[in-house]
Amino acid sequence: MSLLPILQYPDERLRTVAKEIDLDNFDKNYFQNLAENMLETMYHSKGVGLAATQINVHQRIIVIDVSENANEPMILINPKILEASAEQCKEAEGCLSVPGIYENVERSSKITFEYYDINKNEIVQKNADGLLAKCVQHEIDHLNGKVFVDYLSQLKQGRIKSKLQKEQRLAEKHNKK
Ligand code: NI
Repeated sequence: MSLLPILQYPDERLRTVAKEIDLDNFDKNYFQNLAENMLETMYHSKGVGLAATQINVHQRIIVIDVSENANEPMILINPKILEASAEQCKEAEGCLSVPGIYENVERSSKITFEYYDINKNEIVQKNADGLLAKCVQHEIDHLNGKVFVDYLSQLKQGRIKSKLQKEQRLAEKHNKK
């Protein structure tokens, strides 16, 4: 397994809309290996979710682990939200592509979603709530080229962009030494 580099906001590649994975010509080994590397990368960075978009692979696959002990990995292929509650909740979110930034985002508090697992079984999860609901919405946004920062005011987006760009420039300088 190997750690994968994570695209950092405001990298334009985070805006790519990921393609549906063709289950009729499904290379299980490729996706199993990809998902394992994504999980390792996610756990290494203490994240609870990672979308393929964030590692510059533009196919609809995400990994999630919202368990307390980080030992219940989920691999979701072609995930889709079927129902989202009108009721919303506002909670702080972070993202491995937006390091060090935590801001409140309003999302549906309950969702029903479907996906395919690595064995191409179709799974429907009804009325997911809490961290799982929030995380699935956040990661599917990534597959659609959207980052949680997009929900914030223009002013906040501008501040976050310049803060991260400054940090990225410093890191580049440091790496060149
Ligand atoms: Ni994210």
